[in-house]
Amino acid sequence: MAGHSNYVPQSAAAKWLESRLPVISLVRGSFVDFPTPKNLNYWWTFGGILFFVLIAQIMTGIVLAMHYTPATTMAFDSVEHIMRDVNFGWMLRYLHSNGASMFFVAVYIHIFRGLYYGSYKAPREISWILGVIIFLIMMGTAFMGYVLPWGQMSFWGATVITNLFSAIPLVGEEIRTWLWGGFAVDNPTLNRFFSLHYLLPFMIFGVVILHVWAFHTTGNNNPSGVQPKTKQDTVPFHPYYTMKDLFAIIVFLIVLCWFAFYVPNYMGHPDNYIEANPLVTPAHIVPEWYFLPFYAILRAVPDKLGGVAAMFGAIAVLFVLPWLDTSKVRSGTYRPLFKQFFWIFAANAVALGYLGAMPAEGWYVIFSRIFTVYYFAHFLVILPMLGFLEKPRPLPASITDAVLKGGSGKPAAAASAPDTK
Ligand code: HEM
Repeated sequence: MAGHSNYVPQSAAAKWLESRLPVISLVRGSFVDFPTPKNLNYWWTFGGILFFVLIAQIMTGIVLAMHYTPATTMAFDSVEHIMRDVNFGWMLRYLHSNGASMFFVAVYIHIFRGLYYGSYKAPREISWILGVIIFLIMMGTAFMGYVLPWGQMSFWGATVITNLFSAIPLVGEEIRTWLWGGFAVDNPTLNRFFSLHYLLPFMIFGVVILHVWAFHTTGNNNPSGVQPKTKQDTVPFHPYYTMKDLFAIIVFLIVLCWFAFYVPNYMGHPDNYIEANPLVTPAHIVPEWYFLPFYAILRAVPDKLGGVAAMFGAIAVLFVLPWLDTSKVRSGTYRPLFKQFFWIFAANAVALGYLGAMPAEGWYVIFSRIFTVYYFAHFLVILPMLGFLEKPRPLPASITDAVLKGGSGKPAAAASAPDTK
């Protein structure tokens, strides 16, 4: 991460510290002097936004945990106690629950940014793979967090998802009993979910450090996809990107506050305000919105084990994506065919999300199957073939060249217009 710092300790104390623990030059090399492509657009602010949300989730979560009780007889009431009795408890809870939703908004934008600009390609495969690992841990954390208020959706969502493990041949039933800590989702399950929900964000934090280390080693990708060649292609991270990221974080925070303060339950399910009851199954068991595309894939396959395999396969395929895309060109900007398939894929993902929220019957199931097949075809058939079939547009000679030509490869109006003065 370091290695880019021009830092020379001045005071005696700074020299003393530098020769023992060079944290100042590490931070300066990584977040002050770090040479960053000068053409990063606002899609590149989402990494910083994600970091901010992660810290905010950990902080609000720690205070919530001081007032929450992880026991089936008290969990639901302790959440009501937070909402009504704890000073600003309602605010903490709404920031935390809407923060989780907004975390997924940001991570999906971040992932799709990477998909469009080819950030997963060499030499950034490790940044990408660490990202997929973060995404998996995020999903585990969110799933277990949703169980904690012990509402109807908490209980039945946990029951549906943990039951999936019983589809594993031979050992499935044992694994499910082991996960539950008994013979149903019950007190031991709630207790361990609380423990893990507290632990996992710190694991995410650790993997994020590796994630940042990896793309600081290779350097950032950028909208043109061409590597920086000269000093003119980069600017120091501070103040250029610290300020840009800060602005984006503030805008993001305004959106989060709008949800938390004006429509705090918009993204939640009303049934979760009914205490968990193992004897009453809700009419439709639906997960939080951010799991819906994967839920649609799970239900698209008529066989239980097949559905579980497809759902996990939908994430597993992301791990090998760097080796499935055969195109030599990184950025979608210069790939006319890829660009179209990218948007079809995005629409397909949204359609799967819609179908995940619908009952698994009739046409909904038929369409879920078609879109599930397309999801896998995009990665396993279309991307490998495009690299051979597509004729990419000419790449700019450098980042500076891309910027002066308006980033599109075409001469920009300002650069090519005749001087009218
Ligand atoms: C807590 C979650 C995450 C945090 C805090 C985070 C943080 C960051 C930051 C700060 C950057 C540099 C700025 C930027 O490119 O936006 C970045 C880049 C990157 N991230 Fe993430 N990230 C997270 C999750 C993910 C996930 C889930 C993926 C993919 C599945 C991913 C893939 C990448 C890649 C490939 C890059 C390097 C690309 C480039 O420089 O263009 N990240 N991340």
